[in-house]
Amino acid sequence: MLAKRDSCAVPASVHCDHLIAADRGGHSDVAHAESVSGEIFAFLRTASKKYGIDFWRPGSGIIHQIVLENYAFPGGMMLGTDSHTPNAGGLGMIAIGVGGADAVDAMAGIPWELKAPKVLGVRLSGKLDGWATPKDVILKLAGMLTVQGGTNHIIEYFGPGVDTLSCTGMATICNMGAEVGATTSLFPFTESMRRYLVATGRSEVAEAAAKAKEHLCADAGAEYDSVVEINLSELAPRLNGPATPDRSWTLPELKTGIAENKWPKTVSAALIGSCTNSSYEDMTRAASIVKQALGQGMKAKVPFLITPGSEQIRATMHRDGLLDVFQQAGGTILANACGPCIGQWNRPKEESSAENAIVSSFNRNFKGRNDGSPKTLNFLGSPEARRPSAPKHPSPLVTAMAFSGQLAFDPTTDVVTRPDGSTFRFAPPQGIELPPQGFDEAATRGWVESSAPDSSVQVKVDPASSRLQLIEPFAPWDGKEISGARLLVKVSGKCTTDHISAAGPWLKFKGHLENISRNTLIGATNAFTGQVNSTTNWLTGEQGTNPDVAFAYRDAAQPWVVVGDWNYGEGSAREHAAMQPRFLGCVAVVCRSFARIHETNLKKQGIVPLTFVNPDDYDRIPADAVLATRGLVGLAPGSPVILEVARPSEPGAPAVEIPLAHTMSRDQIEWFRAGSALNAIAAQ
Ligand code: F3S
Repeated sequence: MLAKRDSCAVPASVHCDHLIAADRGGHSDVAHAESVSGEIFAFLRTASKKYGIDFWRPGSGIIHQIVLENYAFPGGMMLGTDSHTPNAGGLGMIAIGVGGADAVDAMAGIPWELKAPKVLGVRLSGKLDGWATPKDVILKLAGMLTVQGGTNHIIEYFGPGVDTLSCTGMATICNMGAEVGATTSLFPFTESMRRYLVATGRSEVAEAAAKAKEHLCADAGAEYDSVVEINLSELAPRLNGPATPDRSWTLPELKTGIAENKWPKTVSAALIGSCTNSSYEDMTRAASIVKQALGQGMKAKVPFLITPGSEQIRATMHRDGLLDVFQQAGGTILANACGPCIGQWNRPKEESSAENAIVSSFNRNFKGRNDGSPKTLNFLGSPEARRPSAPKHPSPLVTAMAFSGQLAFDPTTDVVTRPDGSTFRFAPPQGIELPPQGFDEAATRGWVESSAPDSSVQVKVDPASSRLQLIEPFAPWDGKEISGARLLVKVSGKCTTDHISAAGPWLKFKGHLENISRNTLIGATNAFTGQVNSTTNWLTGEQGTNPDVAFAYRDAAQPWVVVGDWNYGEGSAREHAAMQPRFLGCVAVVCRSFARIHETNLKKQGIVPLTFVNPDDYDRIPADAVLATRGLVGLAPGSPVILEVARPSEPGAPAVEIPLAHTMSRDQIEWFRAGSALNAIAAQ
């Protein structure tokens, strides 16, 4: 709307997956979401209709699963406003997670740009065996690369091991490339992609891709900026966590880790599915474990929550009896939506208020992400899968743990206890790559509304709404250097987009910039005090929460700056993490380094992201700093910027000068001058 276009310039789809809270289970949770978030869905539906965008109704599924089933194709390129968009790399697509403002570039028909990434080649050899799964490929890689290791890289998989993986297994691997900060991940076209395309009703695409096969892979002799080797035959099952997805353990290592860190020995919930691991293959393998447990008279020992990735998967599971199996064991089938993965989990407080460990087949495990409790330790594992050609020994690790109840559970060596006290060991389960009767495609009908652009449609926004607010364009740059700016907070350590703009209960305000801004930086740790969400209001000298002080500065027209640590803004494409500070009067974010998407999001909103040329200069910013710049006037690609740091508590002392760098391109500098990228686009 702010870009002032009549229609969307490229095929686009809208998905309602983040606002459905997990409570009683599927249908009832969707109905509840419709009642409490109806105005949001009406806004999205009417906006989609007006601009010619496919609208997927609440309950239809999670964006990445729906994209894999319906839109992704080998050799295509796609932007998605969610960091796990690279999931489509499992179908050979260059799919990149971006902020909403980046998606606007494509949707408004202007060029979208990206600093050319490097290419990290991951050579896969051997074949998965025993209990190892595709998920373990990325869990291991995350341990090797860390959450920053893939930054500014495309991860391209190659080698003979590639052909042993299923399409959905490759999607899982690509999905979690986001956890190492990769721009995207992708696989070359394989026979399993062809099978998946045919099974999802796209034989023509499968044929076309097969004909162009030699173009849908790396060139012969391709060179990579760096290469990592993983021998699938040597891969062991893993759990990663807690609190960060790169803390990777083999199961024997985890046993030691639990003892050394005094983590809970038992698990308090097991969650499978999500956009990461809810393929038919994943679910049949998990069900296979459950059937064994049922045969032994067992039920899940802890809450066991199953999130199908889409209605097509759910309906197919229902038809094939898989849902029954999970429910007989005490499992709860949640809605086809993100639910607990994005903090939409009405978990009883008594389960989360004390330190506890959960295991999930999700992709992300930052503190507080799933149930909002910092006491919950989330370990990421596989629900599931192995190579399709010999589906004998898959690793439904999370599912097996639902029955053992033990965090230190290694199904290759450990036994579980039957109700009568005797024990048994899980036998290798059977899994099925694709449903023998085909997917229940009828299930998808009615869940998507597609139409040509219709300018007569009124986009629904109630001016009195607390959840939707039409935003005003940000003011253009005033042409002056920053001066007299205060430090809102100097953040120490990890500061993800969840720390800057928390999810969970706050998601309901995503359409209302003023109201969601009340969560700004509530997860950030103050480098001077070690306290979370606490800072000094330098206009009054009083302590306050980060958002309260930011609102006070905004109301007093006091410009402010955030100073960040390494990889500031990692974790997701959440553009609110940039919009909110801008809305509240932030004029610059200065840090040791940025996560790529967040850095771009800041630029889009008219905030200059700056990095310390010397990372140790981070330590030279005092709490009471008054900040100014030299270099914004005349800013050019690669030009230097100087941060002048004055200390009112030391009158007469010369200002410290700190050299800063920026990565603004010529176009991005225009966004800054216009006040935001949207302002610049609207003017074109
Ligand atoms: Fe949703 Fe979690 Fe995936 S929030 S998109 S299921 S990462």
